[in-house]
Amino acid sequence: MNKTDTTRSPASNGNDTVVRPAVIGDVPEIMEILQPYIEEDILLPVSVYRLFEQIRYFVVGERDGQVIGCGSLVIVWHDLAEVRSLAVRRGCQGGGVGGRIVDELIVEAEELGVARVFALTYETGFFGRHGFEVVDRDTLPHKVWKDCTSCARFTHCDEIAVARTLIPEDQRAPAPALPAMQQDPTLIMPSPAPQ
Ligand SMILES: CC(C)(COP(=O)(O)OP(=O)(O)OC[C@H]1O[C@@H](n2cnc3c(N)ncnc32)[C@H](O)[C@@H]1OP(=O)(O)O)[C@@H](O)C(=O)NCCC(=O)NCCS
Repeated sequence: MNKTDTTRSPASNGNDTVVRPAVIGDVPEIMEILQPYIEEDILLPVSVYRLFEQIRYFVVGERDGQVIGCGSLVIVWHDLAEVRSLAVRRGCQGGGVGGRIVDELIVEAEELGVARVFALTYETGFFGRHGFEVVDRDTLPHKVWKDCTSCARFTHCDEIAVARTLIPEDQRAPAPALPAMQQDPTLIMPSPAPQ
């Protein structure tokens, strides 16, 4: 949903689950949902610090006052965004919440002008039903793998890359003209020299 448009109702499928932008107070429940999947190496570890920092990227599914699902959309480059930290509370899966969260993140990506959305996942069937296709991991920029260095499976990762095209290549705006130093998406700017 458009986070700046307060006139739009939250997405609802007719039962009592609402999909809405996350707020700071959701962080403990988001952590609670993610933790078991992180421990099972299904999801990448994420710190509480990072959750607060990125809370504006998250949407949550809420039912009866409880957060039962979450997911975030992280812009990676001028034409690319990633679905991250998508999870539904154990016991609440299969009820359509995960699907609605992905659909909401796709709407956000479209509103932002993102050309392509990807995810790294074992859930290829689920993503396939939401318009994603399995893609060669090498087609994704190196920057994508930056956060993977903190993952226990970094050296033997078997997650599958899936992507959904929102804007066909021949309809995309040209890549923005960036200063030469910033054209490499893998570049990490050096820290300023100590005074
Ligand atoms: C992947 C995940 C987010 C999906 O969430 P979910 O809420 O279970 O997803 P949905 O309910 O929308 O869809 C799951 C299945 O339930 C079915 N379903 C959807 N609505 C349903 C309903 N009202 N009643 C019964 N089944 C339903 C769907 O057909 C779907 O089937 P599929 O898996 O064959 O596509 C969830 O399983 C999860 O948290 N997995 C662990 C973490 C993970 O792997 N995240 C992805 C990393 S990118």
